[in-house]
Amino acid sequence: MTIFVTGGAGYIGTHVILQLIEQGYDVVAADNFANSKPEAIARVKALCGYDFPFYEMDVRDCNRLSDIFTAHHIECVIHLAGLKAVGESISKPLEYYTNNLDSTIEILSAMKRYGIRKFIFSSSATVYSGENDMPLTEDSHTGSCANPYGWSKFMCEQIISDFTHANNGFSAVLLRYFNPIGAHESGKIGEDPQDIPNNLMPFIAQTTVGRLPFLNIYGNDYNTSDGTGVRDYIHVTDLAAGHVSAIKHLDTHDGIGIYNLGTGVGVSVLELVSAFEDASGVGIKKKIAARRPGDLAICYTSTTKAKIELGWEAKKSIRDCCIDTWRWQKNNPHGYET
Ligand code: NAD
Ligand code: UD1
Repeated sequence: MTIFVTGGAGYIGTHVILQLIEQGYDVVAADNFANSKPEAIARVKALCGYDFPFYEMDVRDCNRLSDIFTAHHIECVIHLAGLKAVGESISKPLEYYTNNLDSTIEILSAMKRYGIRKFIFSSSATVYSGENDMPLTEDSHTGSCANPYGWSKFMCEQIISDFTHANNGFSAVLLRYFNPIGAHESGKIGEDPQDIPNNLMPFIAQTTVGRLPFLNIYGNDYNTSDGTGVRDYIHVTDLAAGHVSAIKHLDTHDGIGIYNLGTGVGVSVLELVSAFEDASGVGIKKKIAARRPGDLAICYTSTTKAKIELGWEAKKSIRDCCIDTWRWQKNNPHGYET
């Protein structure tokens, strides 16, 4: 089966492509390098030893999509392309809505034109409203999103759901990722933020190699075991494996399926920092700072639905995540530019 992966040069896309190829799928990938580098694709090709077709393009370009769907017998699309920086989405909402919504609409339209019936979408735990009890299940309340990025995912989910209901035989899986961290065990591919990182793990990793002077800990007065925020960190290769399970699910299920991809275990900021210090042997300079606006105290998922219906669960530990991130960051202190 040939799978079209959008956003293939990104952090998650590179790991997804590698696993698809390892599992025997054919891959066609696309990316416009808005938040990634050609070197990422070169490294994936070197790791898997396969020169899969790659298109540098904006996936909102319907003519290019038609060309690809004419040239390749695509049976499934994994749509990872999107803008994802929460802070930037607040200052540039139209860019986020245009990019994330139009890309989804253009891809679904092209799939309809070419009779492609299987679709997997990268959604996020950010679609859940902040009022829910933990753990989050797929039935927890969504909406009341804290920023345009979150709303763009929420709106894409609605569009995909409406499209699926209107088109008999079309099937879609919405994967709501929790907090992806880690890197491929080769140390050749990993997360390479183009700017100062927003998220905790790349911030820790860049502080450890001296690119950043210290880590701000955003609040130590939450109602958690040590006062710092708690999240559900999932290794990116476990997350990639979730996509393979979703493809298998699409083979036997019509309609829409929604799955949370996380570990079910909450880890605090200080616990993650301490695990990274253990893995790297390097002490991390840190300062306690004010709470970050929009942050929740605790966020983690139930894993039951993904386990039962996809037959998938995360296997890697926080220590594995830290060892692999450290290997990537140490070998590539400036990411793919090294
Ligand atoms: P990333 O920025 O590393 O990868 C996204 C890729 O999409 C980039 O390579 C970018 O250049 C590309 N892209 C963006 N707009 C495009 C367009 N119009 N045409 C072609 N390419 C385009 O991000 P990631 O962490 O790999 O995330 C992948 C997906 O997962 C995104 O949709 C993101 O919103 C979602 N997600 C990520 C996280 C996370 O913490 N990393 C959590 C939840 C959901
Ligand atoms: C953030 C986004 C969310 C997105 C998710 C995954 C915000 C408000 N939310 O969530 O929309 O889906 O990333 O991409 O940006 N922390 C520090 N110091 C730092 C960075 C983070 O203490 O320098 C803390 C945070 O306060 C939080 C935890 O680390 O408690 C994790 O933060 P982060 O990695 O940004 O993920 P989320 O907050 O879950």
